Amino acid sequence: MLKEIVLKKFNLIPKTLIILGSGINEFVNNLTDSTNISYNELFNFKTDESIGHKGTLHLGYINKKPLLIMEGRKHYYEDVSNKDMRFMIQSFASIGVKNIIITNACGAMNESFKPGDIMVINDHINMMGLNPLVGDNNNALGPRFVDMSEPYDIEFREMIFEVAKENNILLRQGVYVSYIGPSYETKAEIRAFRMLGGDVVGMSTVPEVIIARHASMRVLGLSLITNMSTGITKNKLSHEEVLEIGKQSVNKLSKLIINFLERI
Ligand code: HPA
Repeated sequence: MLKEIVLKKFNLIPKTLIILGSGINEFVNNLTDSTNISYNELFNFKTDESIGHKGTLHLGYINKKPLLIMEGRKHYYEDVSNKDMRFMIQSFASIGVKNIIITNACGAMNESFKPGDIMVINDHINMMGLNPLVGDNNNALGPRFVDMSEPYDIEFREMIFEVAKENNILLRQGVYVSYIGPSYETKAEIRAFRMLGGDVVGMSTVPEVIIARHASMRVLGLSLITNMSTGITKNKLSHEEVLEIGKQSVNKLSKLIINFLERI
């Protein structure tokens, strides 16, 4: 189904899929000659549009390069099954998509970061208590036990830093801690995650990265810091703030991604 849709559009399978996080949806405006299809027709779930999570796959071009963009994703706090979580990413892996750029909104525990900053993920700590690969293994895509020594492609990380330098964009790097949500973290949890070595915390990304690595996809993870984590500042956290900062920083993130795409 997905394969037919993609081939009908491009006559080939694009190498790269981009997943857009909260507040970053406007990135799709960079596409030219684009068409789209609702997740309802592709996956077994709907996304919750009421909180700004669209559910649309876009097929189009940036600088003549064919691309797939997922506007919206599924989170474990929406009670999605491992099977459906896997299906979403494995659909792309199994038709031959090789690279995945995963973006998210997150809170910063590292006090040298600030809202509006962008961080390249260089590693993660899975604190969700779940692993999307629990269940049947798709042997055609990858092994039962998956190496996680470098989930975030080293060459991609070097390339995005070169792009940032050329465009005068400050780019952070660090460890992403995944938290299931949907409640935000407590102050004590943030102190604990910081002590464990985390720099930022968010409610997505890690499941997708694990599934992508299982299928040997190359991963670039970009986190947009929308707020300081609970207890780091006195402010209460709100989803509206997350969406607003996301919107303000989308141009910077777009510039990074568009220039990165030129190199892969
Ligand atoms: N915690 C978890 N998820 C988030 C945050 C946060 O502070 N900000 C944006 N997504």
